[in-house]
Amino acid sequence: MREAFRYLIGIAGPSGFGSNSTAEEVVEGVACAPTLTAIITGATSGIGAETARVLAKKGLRLVLPARDLKRATEVRERIQRESPHSEIIVLEMDLSSFTSIQRFCSQFLSLGLPLNTLIDDDHYGRECTSALYVEGLVLDVVGLLFMDSVLKPLGSPMQK
Ligand SMILES: NC(=O)c1ccc[n+]([C@@H]2O[C@H](COP(=O)([O-])OP(=O)(O)OC[C@H]3O[C@@H](n4cnc5c(N)ncnc54)[C@H](OP(=O)(O)O)[C@@H]3O)[C@@H](O)[C@H]2O)c1
Repeated sequence: MREAFRYLIGIAGPSGFGSNSTAEEVVEGVACAPTLTAIITGATSGIGAETARVLAKKGLRLVLPARDLKRATEVRERIQRESPHSEIIVLEMDLSSFTSIQRFCSQFLSLGLPLNTLIDDDHYGRECTSALYVEGLVLDVVGLLFMDSVLKPLGSPMQK
């Protein structure tokens, strides 16, 4: 209860950031080598899109898995207008399909890139019935654990 209240009014947690902190504030002062690669799910809107924008400004190479390639391409173009030198790769992945997740992992592995950070920011199941929502959530978690286990050997997490 106390934690929820602290979150709602934006008091910083152990990380030093709270719900009022912006993505720009979080990465301020963090040095990022241009060789770093980040996969960001859910980057076509909301928090994922903002995370992608800010990490591209920091010079990271981004890989954006998305079920809607048109939306993802629009996000890439918008980010590249602000950060013209950013390298952003859009690949298809629908987190409601394990086959699609496996295909994404294979495509990513075939690029031969390191993986320095994996940011899971999708929000599966908004438009589903409750039964499908639960099924989707389970698949979401299992899918992300699968991605994590397949891709983790490629690199270590980004250090602050
Ligand atoms: N916003 C907040 O204040 C807040 C606060 C705390 C926690 N969160 C959590 O943070 C996460 C993101 O929130 P948000 O507000 O940024 O959500 P959002 O704007 O609704 O974005 C959701 C993202 O997930 C993607 N997505 C949904 N289903 C997918 C699927 N089956 N396969 C691939 N991608 C899929 C969407 O892609 P499409 O473009 O294809 O729909 C979209 O890019 C959520 O889990 C939310 O609960 C949000």
